[in-house]
Amino acid sequence: MLIIISLSGDPGVSAGIARYSGSTLVTPTIKRFPDGEIYIRIDHDLRGRDVLIVQSTYPDQDSKLMEVLLAIDAVSRLGAASISVLFTYLAYMRQDKVFLKGEPVSLDVVLRTISSIGNIDKLYVVEPHVVWRDRFIAIDGVSPLAERFRDLDGILVVAPDKGGVERARRFYSLIKGSDLIYMVKKRDRYTGKVSSEIAESDADKVKNSHVVIVDDIVSTGGTLAEASRKLLSLGASSIHVACAHPLFVGNAFKRIKGAGIDKVVCGRTVVKKLDGVEYVDLSSYIARSIFG
Ligand code: R5P
Repeated sequence: MLIIISLSGDPGVSAGIARYSGSTLVTPTIKRFPDGEIYIRIDHDLRGRDVLIVQSTYPDQDSKLMEVLLAIDAVSRLGAASISVLFTYLAYMRQDKVFLKGEPVSLDVVLRTISSIGNIDKLYVVEPHVVWRDRFIAIDGVSPLAERFRDLDGILVVAPDKGGVERARRFYSLIKGSDLIYMVKKRDRYTGKVSSEIAESDADKVKNSHVVIVDDIVSTGGTLAEASRKLLSLGASSIHVACAHPLFVGNAFKRIKGAGIDKVVCGRTVVKKLDGVEYVDLSSYIARSIFG
């Protein structure tokens, strides 16, 4: 029988998966030494067992990643037959290439580090920013959000940038949509400032539409706020959001509300919870994706 190890960032997904699969859920002791170092102890017999480690790297990302590295090592030393890791949210995915000379490829660093600690059987990532098929298994984190928009007819689905079109298409296939368009987003690589435009040929589709913007991450809310303002200026009737990873850093929620966004539906992929956000428990969907 599978053993599921829940680390400190797990937003309760491990318990849902354990219920679905009849697995044993183990919560290790996780402490901090006085100087800040992390200590983990897994007090369970893992010899010959298949183990799934569940973590979400909601800030502080680095300590959450460190927990995963320490847990992999501990599980290997306890003689597990196989080790898999599930990230309900994996940080560092947006630095998947060198944008400015002198930068690292952070995602590659994270993945290489994880696989250097132990023999990882399967690495699952919920709604990854980018899909690197040969490095991890992606689990759809936006399709389960679609049911919350079933009462809205003729939705215009909007991807906030071209890279998000495949994600938006998955969502679009499950709702009563009128069309799917994408915005042309430009981010200043030095200041982080975002600007969003819509192709002239798509501008007419926005007028009088109920819009759902589909995105993977809301962090500062800058992308959604900018997109919402643009869509409202083109005559959209209402703006809603379906987003997998609700980080909501600082005043992000206030910011998107101030930009006219109405309903906000997000996956429960991180521990932070805010009033006014509708959270969808993804655990049975994730379990079905893993176990069939
Ligand atoms: C970027 O490409 C992502 O898909 C998100 O749109 C972005 O990370 C959101 O960040 P923020 O909320 O800070 O604009």
